[in-house]
Amino acid sequence: MKNGTCWLDDQGKLIQAHGGMIIKFGDLYYWYGENKDGPNCIINGETSRRVDVIGVSCYTSHDLHTWHYEGLALKATKDDPNFPLHFSRVLERPKVLFCEKTGKYVMWFHADSANYQAAQAGCAIADDPKGPFTFLHAKCPNGRDCRDMTFYFSPEDGKAYIIHSGDRNKTMYASQLNDEYTDFTGVCYPMMQDQTREAPALIYHNGLHYCVTSGCTGWDPNSALYSVTPHLSNGMKLIDNPCEGPNYRRTFEGQSTYIFEAEGQAYLMLDHWKRYDLMHSGYSILPITFNDEGIMTVHWRDEF
Ligand code: DGJ
Repeated sequence: MKNGTCWLDDQGKLIQAHGGMIIKFGDLYYWYGENKDGPNCIINGETSRRVDVIGVSCYTSHDLHTWHYEGLALKATKDDPNFPLHFSRVLERPKVLFCEKTGKYVMWFHADSANYQAAQAGCAIADDPKGPFTFLHAKCPNGRDCRDMTFYFSPEDGKAYIIHSGDRNKTMYASQLNDEYTDFTGVCYPMMQDQTREAPALIYHNGLHYCVTSGCTGWDPNSALYSVTPHLSNGMKLIDNPCEGPNYRRTFEGQSTYIFEAEGQAYLMLDHWKRYDLMHSGYSILPITFNDEGIMTVHWRDEF
């Protein structure tokens, strides 16, 4: 798989799993992401920067290289234009975790109106990781806005969090979830203040939370930065750009979406957005290393 390009599934079709994540459940890897398998909408005769919502794709793999399409784990709807899953709205960055307490698979995603003013987090649950997921609700976490987000289990306290850009992207928040992972507890930590970051992707390593983010330049690449903290409640300290390789100042022309681990190796997943042809946005999966001082590096590789 050539990094920075579109990838094909085992049927030779474009993998449609943007803003996504890879996670292992049982002996299978699952890749969830936005299905953008349609042309960008034409608005007032011009190509816009949106594709109507189709839903959340689910792919499975035994080896992270051959991916089988399992269908839409969560589908867009056609009736009520105000319903959070309506095709005319926004559904981005879906993430799924397994909740030990309930035995359910829980999905959270950025649920928004077409003009990004609703700024909510949506939640759906399923008994099977392939879905179908049942939509529960979409809301502003503790009354705050939520745009780019991820779903993070913190080994520090055994709690799950929605890590989201808030205050019109100025602040990155960690909003704690209940033990069912389905709603907010009211506990919320500002993790990065006045930094205007988005696209959060986290990993817990050697007692520290690491968070890779991008700047806010729409679909265009910019410099990634990572931040670190031993305690989510204390906020994070911005450290540096972790990328090493060609175009490292533009995140190799990509944007972070998730960090996963496979056989002891951590990987950063990137989207390479094509803003006027979103269905052909590409992907990269790049290895992450940590040195003895805890410095994080994301290494460019031509192939995954
Ligand atoms: C950047 C975000 O990271 C994407 O998920 C998407 O919301 C675009 N902005 C929209 O411009």
